[in-house]
Amino acid sequence: MAKFLIMVLLLLLPLLGSRAEKQVFEVYIVYFGEHSGEKALHEIEETHHSYLVSVKSTEEEARASLLYSYKHSINGFAAVLSPDEVSKLSEMEDVMSVFRSGEYTIHTTRSWEFVGLLMQEEEHTIPTHFKKLGSDLLSRAKYGQDVVVGVIDTGVWPESQSFSDKGMGPIPKSWKGICQSGPAFNSSHCNSRKIIGARYFIKEFEHHYGPLNASEDYRSSRDKNGHGTHTASTVGGRMVHNVSVNGGFGRGIASGGAPLVRLAIYKVCWQFNGKSLSCSGADIMAAIDAAVADGVHVMSISLGTRGQRHEKYYTDDIFVIGALHASRNNIVVACSAGNDGPTPSTVSHIAPWIITVAASSVDRKFVSPVVLGNGSKIKGQSATPSKLEKKMYPLVYAADVADQDVSKDYAVQCLPHSLSLDKVKGKIVLCMIEYTSVHGEDMEVKRAGGAGYILGSSRAGGVDELAAHANVLPATVVVYTDAIRILEYINSTKNPIATIIPAKTVLHTKPAPFMAAFSSRGPNTIDPNIIKPDITAPGLNIIAAWTPENSPSANRAKVEYHMISGTSMSCPHVAAAAALVKAIHPTWSSAAIRSAIMTTASVINNNGLPLTNDRGNVATPFAYGSGHFQPTKAADPGLVYDASYYDYLLYLCSLGSVKKFDKTFKCPKAPPSSFNLNYPSLAVSKLNGTVSVKRTVTNVGGGGKSIYFFTSQPPVGMSVRAHPSILVFDRVGQKKSFTITLRAISDEILRKKDGYGFGWYKWTDAHALHVVRSPIAVSLA
Ligand SMILES: *[C@@H]1O[C@H](CO)[C@@H](O)[C@H](O)[C@H]1NC(C)=O
Ligand SMILES: *[C@@H]1O[C@H](CO)[C@@H](O)[C@H](O)[C@H]1NC(C)=O
Ligand SMILES: *[C@@H]1O[C@H](CO)[C@@H](O)[C@H](O)[C@H]1NC(C)=O
Ligand SMILES: *[C@@H]1O[C@H](CO)[C@@H](O)[C@H](O)[C@H]1NC(C)=O
Ligand SMILES: *[C@@H]1O[C@H](CO)[C@@H](O)[C@H](O)[C@H]1NC(C)=O
Ligand SMILES: *[C@@H]1O[C@H](CO)[C@@H](O)[C@H](O)[C@H]1NC(C)=O
Repeated sequence: MAKFLIMVLLLLLPLLGSRAEKQVFEVYIVYFGEHSGEKALHEIEETHHSYLVSVKSTEEEARASLLYSYKHSINGFAAVLSPDEVSKLSEMEDVMSVFRSGEYTIHTTRSWEFVGLLMQEEEHTIPTHFKKLGSDLLSRAKYGQDVVVGVIDTGVWPESQSFSDKGMGPIPKSWKGICQSGPAFNSSHCNSRKIIGARYFIKEFEHHYGPLNASEDYRSSRDKNGHGTHTASTVGGRMVHNVSVNGGFGRGIASGGAPLVRLAIYKVCWQFNGKSLSCSGADIMAAIDAAVADGVHVMSISLGTRGQRHEKYYTDDIFVIGALHASRNNIVVACSAGNDGPTPSTVSHIAPWIITVAASSVDRKFVSPVVLGNGSKIKGQSATPSKLEKKMYPLVYAADVADQDVSKDYAVQCLPHSLSLDKVKGKIVLCMIEYTSVHGEDMEVKRAGGAGYILGSSRAGGVDELAAHANVLPATVVVYTDAIRILEYINSTKNPIATIIPAKTVLHTKPAPFMAAFSSRGPNTIDPNIIKPDITAPGLNIIAAWTPENSPSANRAKVEYHMISGTSMSCPHVAAAAALVKAIHPTWSSAAIRSAIMTTASVINNNGLPLTNDRGNVATPFAYGSGHFQPTKAADPGLVYDASYYDYLLYLCSLGSVKKFDKTFKCPKAPPSSFNLNYPSLAVSKLNGTVSVKRTVTNVGGGGKSIYFFTSQPPVGMSVRAHPSILVFDRVGQKKSFTITLRAISDEILRKKDGYGFGWYKWTDAHALHVVRSPIAVSLA
């Protein structure tokens, strides 16, 4: 007992000290760059400890303040420090940088309000693009069986049929990971051949929120939330037949993109305080360090900030640093672009060594129109299994049926306890949402005794991702302008009436894909000379495995599969594609794999027209990057834009921040401009007159001998020239460099609303077997 008290006191000491000096202690990452080599793990830890001892008053204090010592690829530690200690450490030799850890969350549009889906036809629950993969790519890649994908998320539900290891071959010999045991998770949950590793990282979380509450989450890799199970099964779930959702609705086949890929689970996000979820920077950093050491080939990270802007600079962003270490080890890192669209400049994970994934639709909708009493039929979307009777119901506007003492602004959103029971009973209610998220209108209309409701989308928000919203009542979602029409109808008549036609699944809808409204948009706020996001993939209404312990439905029914939206869902699609390319080309660098995925992407929808946003306006590379991924083509791109760790350091020279990554790296006197990084897309910001951009392509085409021709579509008021404009290759692996000269002929771009002009250039070989396409984005000085 006495010992315990002393421990507690020691832990409190820094805090007490902080009060006296008014110092705020926070979690910081102290970063040393790469490990120099031969040190044993305990020596590394001792070195880190000695740095801490030098700024703390006692050994014990130093020990108590240390959360993690990063020993594998990343050299650094996470500790609880005061601003004074931070400034002392920052000045020490060998310390590259000291920066605050951050708090992050999952990139799902909404995680808990969603419900299961209604599917009335036999359908693959996976997006068309994987359906069309064809056995060719999958069999060439052996379905990904030699590749390990690390999923950094909320854990996994290992019993899901999607993670069965039936018939799988032995685990790849290169695998060095472990199965960390904990509550409801022991070694037999991942000594299978499917989930081959599992670890969890919780130290910073518990530093902030105290010991994990065992009734809110498992202190192990087991997923109580569902998000990690969903993303992991999207990457590498097995084919599961007769998947049904939401009390028996819908039957289909669920499958991940690389069905035989091996999964390694790194749990970093924890539930607390009801349904809150937090993922801490120091924990994520530890997961990335472990994943590199374990030998994953691809990382899928559907986490990040939630907010309107990317806040952190490269030098204090754990994802940027973690991914740089990963890419040095030839690991492809796919990250979700974020769900803060359609506002410009919201894209996150903007470092060029990350593949940043936007979200778009699949060719499926859940259709549930509204019929008004005057005969008008209005488009609506819904996946609710609840149905109205075949008759008209009285229709009211939520603001007009507010409960006593409830403001119209509050009631119009159908927020909890806002509606009058007397005025709502047996009627259809028109509710409006203010933002892109929903807040329980389902339950409120039910509480008030309503027969059903129509949800009017907010002005900026998307409507498609709301389709899966309701399930306890018949309901449908309409776009903002249609909500106004319904309101006009309510205003125009004494006894407004309406009905909602039961939801049904419609396949092969056009146009598809289109960009999801929520998908975060460029330009890149840190370095506008790199286009971000890089690519788009399905992220709208995606069905995948779920945990039975987080029922999405109000009736608490357990579900094993679930439909949700977000760049969280599109990221694992691209991770799966990267795994398949890696399986076919095991020696390719992570940059080459990213290039292959980007230069083979499509910017055309199934109407044969340019990709649009959800309102039908033509989208730009700031929404979709290089376009919609096409995994089959990515395996055979013809040419790749390769880049090495050295190139990334050179790139950091041009940003003036290389010293925060590698103090010994000698930048050239005049570092190349950042647009000269050998990237598969091309952006030049604030162009003044003329600029020449350098690129090098490597021939990876099967035949070896080939000739490529240059074509381009310049941005408005620009000219685009390549020199040389013909590239002749005699062998595989051969590199050819060229320059692209961009010249402003007029200042037309300046007059555009967003100030950017877009175009493309491409290299095409003789029989157009390979088309290697790069988007161009230019702004003028
Ligand atoms: C792991 O737990 C399961 C129950 O979930 C049990 O059947 C199994 O024997 C345990 N395995 C080990 C190695 O403890
Ligand atoms: C743990 O969580 C449960 C369920 O949310 C709650 O009822 C309980 O009070 C929590 N316990 C603590 C110690 O916070
Ligand atoms: C599919 O599952 C349902 C139970 O959810 C079952 O009744 C039905 O027979 C199954 N169909 C097939 C083809 O296995
Ligand atoms: C409907 O009528 C109300 C007044 O009753 C008015 O404030 C509102 O602007 C009208 N809306 C439309 C869309 O006509
Ligand atoms: C029904 O009312 C709405 C709103 O006033 C109007 O836009 C629509 O044209 C009307 N439909 C018919 C068929 O009159
Ligand atoms: C563009 O470059 C010219 C000289 O080449 C310089 O005089 C001018 O100030 C520059 N304009 C801007 C907006 O940077």
